[in-house]
Amino acid sequence: MPDVVTMDKIVSLARRRGFVFPSSEIYGGLGSSYDYGHYGVLMKENVKARWLEAMVRERDDIVALDSSIILHPSVWRASGHVAGFTDPLVDCRHCKLRFRADQLEEAQCGARPSKHPGETELCDLTEPRQFNLMFQTRIGALEETGLDAYLRPETAQGIFVNFKNVAQIARRKPPFGIAQLGKAFRNEITPGNFIFRTLEFEMMEMEYFVPPESAEHWHRYWIDERLAWYRRFGIRESHLRVRAHESDELSHYSSATSDIEYLFPIGWSELEGIANRGDYDLTAHSEASGTRLEWVDSATGERYVPYVVEPAAGVNRSLLAFLVDSYDEEVVAERPRTVLRLHPEIAPVKAAILPLVPRDAEMSTRARNLYEELRRAMVAEYDDSGQIGRRYRRQDEIGTPFALTVDEQTVEDETVTIRDRDSLAQERIPIAGARSFVLDRLAQEWKTSKAD
Ligand code: GAP
Repeated sequence: MPDVVTMDKIVSLARRRGFVFPSSEIYGGLGSSYDYGHYGVLMKENVKARWLEAMVRERDDIVALDSSIILHPSVWRASGHVAGFTDPLVDCRHCKLRFRADQLEEAQCGARPSKHPGETELCDLTEPRQFNLMFQTRIGALEETGLDAYLRPETAQGIFVNFKNVAQIARRKPPFGIAQLGKAFRNEITPGNFIFRTLEFEMMEMEYFVPPESAEHWHRYWIDERLAWYRRFGIRESHLRVRAHESDELSHYSSATSDIEYLFPIGWSELEGIANRGDYDLTAHSEASGTRLEWVDSATGERYVPYVVEPAAGVNRSLLAFLVDSYDEEVVAERPRTVLRLHPEIAPVKAAILPLVPRDAEMSTRARNLYEELRRAMVAEYDDSGQIGRRYRRQDEIGTPFALTVDEQTVEDETVTIRDRDSLAQERIPIAGARSFVLDRLAQEWKTSKAD
């Protein structure tokens, strides 16, 4: 069966249910900027937590770091970003639109949207010129004495400039890694396809420092590890693939990069890049700063500049992939149902507690008590507004795996029904055991019921 999901459906659900809103909407919105509502925040936190667990908590060879967003401007000169972090741009003198010179085939002409820029007699494109993607700012109160600085376009450089601090204190020997989660900023010119490409976004980056001769081995290792992570949290196998960059696509620092791509509604697109950065960054910062960034074995005196293998993922783009991959529609009892079949560990809310008749004091007291008990162990929601059918639909649309309903029978025999989001199966369980029942079910292995 063809996938029913489209980007428009995702945008509409994300907005309707409060995952993602256009930014500054009351002023007409700001292109390529979005704000995250309650469920978007909870889901983003889950994505980050699963990444941090897999990268740091479940391993002994990777430590965490949280570096500044604004670093010394010399960092970006040494890293090559001032000179090389650019996109080629062309302007159309006729329609006044601006395009990426290397993506004209994907863009629409401003005068005739069925054509690409440059294809009509009206188009009057300038020669391509390089446009730096870094946002500039200024440190210091005075214009004259202030220092030009940049908002970081990647978190990686904060890791490289801390290499010596971390390597000494963490007492790790290559291969070892430093992981960092945080915001990055890019003055993107191409319009963004919802949260796929935005001006600011959160990155999940890990720099893995290895002996030079083993870099290729670790590059392959991290491609496999990161693919397994997406599969582990429910992304369908058929919607993931690995694509190695051609030499003319490589970033200025990379000797080999493979992208993990996801089949988004806009086609196969990058979800995460895994690069072999060689010794480019540590060498560049050693030369520019005068501080030797190298590994020294205190026992043998051996010294070398480690190579770096870097899996770099976007939180927001991962969240989009999880939304797209889980979105499903079906007809139940002759009524359409939209459901997010999210992995329980990614779903923003784990359980909803619904009193069947909210006005009934006995039901609502029991439902409230159950809610108070569950919310201590997981993100739970108490929902008593509207028809029960509509409440189920609301929970389906935010991907809540379990709904517990308190009804007349609860008052008689202290049992509740528990409804499974995916199968719609309902069972009755004792209210006293509901908390551990849900926790057990959440901990079970989960596989999407969407066709692969
Ligand atoms: N340090 C390596 C690096 O920055 P990248 O491929 O440019 O690599 C890594 O970025 C990931 O960050 C991408 O795979 C994507 O998931 C995410 N990303 C990059 N630019 C983005 C943008 N403008 N908006 C949202 N996510 C973005």
